[in-house]
Amino acid sequence: MNVLILGSGGREHALSWKISQSPLLKKLFIAPGNAGTGLHGQNVALDISDFQTISSFALKENVDMIIVGPEDPLVKGIHDYFLADKKFKNIKIAGPAKQAAMLEGSKEFAKKFMQDNNIPTAAFKSFGKNSYEEACQFLKTMTPPYVLKADGLAAGKGVLILDSYKKACDDLKEMFEGKFGAAGNRVVIEQFLEGTELSVFVLTDGNSYVLLPEAKDYKRIGEGDTGLNTGGMGAISPVPFANSAFMKKVESRIIQPTMDGIRRAGMNYKGFIFFGLINVKGDPFVIEYNVRMGDPEAEVVIPRIQSDLLNLFSGVCEGNLDRKRLKLDGRTVSTVMLVSGGYPGSYEKGKPITGHNKVEKSIVFHAGTKMESGQIYTNGGRVMALSSYGNNMKEALAKSFDSARKIQFEGVYFRKDIGFDL
Ligand code: AMP
Ligand code: GLY
Repeated sequence: MNVLILGSGGREHALSWKISQSPLLKKLFIAPGNAGTGLHGQNVALDISDFQTISSFALKENVDMIIVGPEDPLVKGIHDYFLADKKFKNIKIAGPAKQAAMLEGSKEFAKKFMQDNNIPTAAFKSFGKNSYEEACQFLKTMTPPYVLKADGLAAGKGVLILDSYKKACDDLKEMFEGKFGAAGNRVVIEQFLEGTELSVFVLTDGNSYVLLPEAKDYKRIGEGDTGLNTGGMGAISPVPFANSAFMKKVESRIIQPTMDGIRRAGMNYKGFIFFGLINVKGDPFVIEYNVRMGDPEAEVVIPRIQSDLLNLFSGVCEGNLDRKRLKLDGRTVSTVMLVSGGYPGSYEKGKPITGHNKVEKSIVFHAGTKMESGQIYTNGGRVMALSSYGNNMKEALAKSFDSARKIQFEGVYFRKDIGFDL
């Protein structure tokens, strides 16, 4: 099979690393990729939201399957684009069609889907730009902290959690006035849930699904979960509190009703479903859906999949996932993310990276990196993730931290307390 992976982060490096091990693979392309994906396949400089260019490339190179890493092309309808023309009929897309991708593309759509399917989630109401006064009235009926969510995609920045009623109204106004662009034309206001978050993943062909390992992500920049939100600073899988009793609740209350809802709505869902959950005193609630794998969760979940992932993706695309088997590695995997100084605020790129070749006990997954004349440079906020296996969390983390210390670039930072709360 010839495969094209879209994206350029640590998630896409983890996907490339795994797919390149498949005996079913003939040729692997990654667009645009990074210095790490280039070790497993051919990077191609394509704009992943330019579907015309991607489809021409896929036809020219006899690509059989496109695996979509990030949400953006999915929400913009890449799957539908390929379905719309017979000349693409031999190209399978691993990733949901546009209507299904709304589960991530619109918070309001996702909340209504959960409400319709009795899936536990925070109580909410949504408001449009013209209902500012009404929205403030609704806020008054809520107890702080107040949770405001821009309806559309806002690069992970569209959620605000505020302690005072006045600040909530002020920020709501800014959202309606375009703080997050068109994503804030509608805003979901919801009840604050207190608990511990975790990420649960399935791979589905729209009918059956396989449950992948769960993971915990560390989103804040600072140690002790302080400071600004980032894309994710590290992750661990498995998650100790996600024991079989808890996971049974997740499957029966959340995953199965979600699958039923997808079938009932006739959604064309092929790919990952990422359930962003919160454990409230032993009961799981959905914070959000994502229609892709998480990042850095992919860097701990994918190394725990022993089965041929390309074979699983074939099952996803061909609708026979029920005939595939999922075999998992029982060990713990941790990852620690190295980031550029200043991230998630402004940061510089183009810093030479050294020491990555000295890492022996971890897998180096590249995120924001690029290769130029044999030298690797930083090329983003999140730069590299060091993923390690261990017989327990402590063992895995010790290796990730040890590897992290071996890598140098100007301004390098990483959290030294990943896993502190588990
Ligand atoms: P989201 O983009 O929906 O994942 O939200 C970003 C982060 O905001 C989540 O990872 C949570 O930490 C937090 N969050 C979102 N919704 C709630 C809620 N209803 N209660 C508490 N925290 C929330
Ligand atoms: N790490 C969270 C995400 O991928 O959305």
